[in-house]
Amino acid sequence: MKKKYVLVIVLAMFLVGASSFVQTFNLAKSIARGKEAYAANCQNCHMADGKGLPGAFPPLAKSNYLTKSTGELITYVLKGQTGEITVNGTVYNAVMPAQDYLTDEQIADIYNYVRNSWGNKSTVAITTAMVSKKRTELSK
Ligand code: HEC
Repeated sequence: MKKKYVLVIVLAMFLVGASSFVQTFNLAKSIARGKEAYAANCQNCHMADGKGLPGAFPPLAKSNYLTKSTGELITYVLKGQTGEITVNGTVYNAVMPAQDYLTDEQIADIYNYVRNSWGNKSTVAITTAMVSKKRTELSK
């Protein structure tokens, strides 16, 4: 084979490899997947409109808790949440069970949906890498 062809093939292989690295995270797709995962795993308590149930389940719609660090938000799902908390001025003291059986992708998708629904807006995506990192930290 001519040297020139070998060079072209090597270059082509490099480009294919490099393009799989720079595959960008698609927030719109994550939000769409998150809507379904939310319906299956969160909606029973936090409701389809994200408003929760007064006195029992706190809202996610415009919740002041969504301004907390992404690490904290991820921890609520992996570890559950109990004890007194004040969400949008109302005190709750109930139990949210841990759902650590959800995959990193499901948790990231759910929060991308939650953070972009019912008046919430966040263009900064939660990625599977963030969830995976937190899961490792919590398991130590
Ligand atoms: C069985 C009912 C239940 C389910 C299912 C549930 N939660 Fe919760 N969640 C609660 C309760 C109750 C609290 C408040 C706990 C407390 O009083 O400390 C809470 C608190 C929260 C909070 C912090 C407060 C707020 O309202 O912003 C977030 C964020 C949250 N849940 C997200 C989720 C997500 C995401 C899912 C799905 C993966 C989910 N929850 C599933 C019951 C539930």
